[in-house]
Amino acid sequence: MKLPRRVTICEVGTRDGFQIEPAFIPTDQKIETVNRLAAAGIPRIEVTSFVSPKAIPQLRDAAEVMAAITRRPGTIYSALVPNDKGAVRAVDARVDEIHTVVSASESHNLANVNMTIAESLTKLAAVAEVARRTSVPVVSGISCSFGCPFEGDVPVAHLESVVGRLVDMGARGIGLADTTGMANPAQVGRVLERLVPRFPGIEWTLHTHDTRAMAIPNILAAMEHGVTHFDASIGGLGGCPFAPGASGNVCSEDLIHCLHAMGVETGVDLDALIETSRRVQAIVGRGLPGQLVKAGKWDRRYPLPDGVRERIPARS
Ligand code: COA
Ligand code: ZN
Repeated sequence: MKLPRRVTICEVGTRDGFQIEPAFIPTDQKIETVNRLAAAGIPRIEVTSFVSPKAIPQLRDAAEVMAAITRRPGTIYSALVPNDKGAVRAVDARVDEIHTVVSASESHNLANVNMTIAESLTKLAAVAEVARRTSVPVVSGISCSFGCPFEGDVPVAHLESVVGRLVDMGARGIGLADTTGMANPAQVGRVLERLVPRFPGIEWTLHTHDTRAMAIPNILAAMEHGVTHFDASIGGLGGCPFAPGASGNVCSEDLIHCLHAMGVETGVDLDALIETSRRVQAIVGRGLPGQLVKAGKWDRRYPLPDGVRERIPARS
């Protein structure tokens, strides 16, 4: 396998995850979660979103959260925005990076942000203007890059034209999002083979959901194509309220454990992250999909059953 020496994880649990929680998570617990993630060494955190509070009531405290987190030097704190109003709010809240959202599927874009793709791109040009004026970098995410729960296939030529528009607006990075877990590893390879050479200098991120247990295989396929930035969410929280069937993102600690087991560095303290995942389970009041919290790390060992040790043959 072709593996990078190091990958960069962007934690999205407090945004993609908390946005769909049924009960309002108190602001201080959101702040605590962000601070714990940063303390565990997560290098990038998508803290929240600056969207309409009617669309996503759970994140209506975005400005308070941004104002009260402890800024760890070196950590990049970002937020998701759908339009220039969100960008202005995000910049006022001193985000280090703006993440934008548009879908590669017309139906999902209308369901998610009540705009056609063309209308969204006009808003995102205004976001780019705010970002340029304030020198805040933009990473542009594209929902349903690999398939849409309403339309099915998303033609790669269509995806490429959306990427092209966002790159022309000055995006530093592009996030390809598999919003409802429809991508498979062969498809991820095909899409990257086509897009990566056409947009030199772009930092590519893969944003996965583990809806059909293909998130880590898709990430492995993306690494084979040189991608080294991945979104993930603590405990496997996550889902889009406007995409039926969307379930959690790839679980941060499961992904980081897999990477470390293969010798790929992330700079994250996995034990601290597992503790954070336990705390997040307590905050949301239920168990989460992550496997590592249940199984322990690969080097966990159990005591032998009685009478077995004496019967193990000596190694020759
Ligand atoms: N932040 C806060 N408020 C915003 C806003 C933003 N970024 N953008 C718009 N609003 C407000 C408007 O001021 C207006 O408020 P009012 O009713 O008090 O006058 C209201 O929201 C409606 O604005 P409008 O421009 O007509 O938007 P809309 O109702 O068509 O909704 C979006 C469009 C994009 C604002 C909304 O669909 C949205 O926020 N979607 C986010 C979806 C999301 O986060 N999905 C999950 C992540 S992928
Ligand atoms: Zn997502």
